[in-house]
Amino acid sequence: MAPIKLHDKTFDSYLSEDTIQTRIRELAAQIDRDYAGKRPLFIGILNGAFMFAADLFKNLTVEAEVSFIKLASYSGTKSTGRVITAIGLDQDLIGRDVIVVEDIVDTGKTLAEFLPQLQHNQPASLRIATLLHKPEATQFDLTLDYVGFAIPNKFVVGYGLDYDGIGRNLREIYQLSENA
Ligand code: IMP
Ligand code: MG
Ligand code: MG
Repeated sequence: MAPIKLHDKTFDSYLSEDTIQTRIRELAAQIDRDYAGKRPLFIGILNGAFMFAADLFKNLTVEAEVSFIKLASYSGTKSTGRVITAIGLDQDLIGRDVIVVEDIVDTGKTLAEFLPQLQHNQPASLRIATLLHKPEATQFDLTLDYVGFAIPNKFVVGYGLDYDGIGRNLREIYQLSENA
């Protein structure tokens, strides 16, 4: 695919639609095996994960539920620092097998702050599925159970991920151009 321009920046084609979809089918098959006989609850993190969550969910054969939340981050008191709250978490998580679905784990800060809050709701198990992971950028100790692609520490857009609001509708994933 040809490079694209979003706002002021140029992006090069990086992961094709076919590459993404093939990998998602593999992840779904793995989750089907791991959760056979259970009824996992997928919690997609909006906005970025909406496409990945939809395609992952479509490829599952195991009985499963899906729900979406938004994470809002605000400055708490000095002692609490930045606080992350979940908007729209209406499900009872007690005893559930929960899989958090993310578009990308970059620094890992968002999940490192949010997962302990989910643990408070006493799920039977808690795993993470992320389409993308930037291992070089991650500064928090997270166990990522299902990872689509480990990618270099470069800004990416498309397939749910945005650059300043746009680019989410792209079917491929693009990477910020070196010579931009
Ligand atoms: P964190 O640094 O792991 O907390 O990432 C927080 C969020 O920033 C992710 O869930 C994404 O929504 C967004 N993000 C991180 N890296 C990128 C990127 O390369 N492109 C677009 N969004 C990103
Ligand atoms: Mg995200
Ligand atoms: Mg964003």
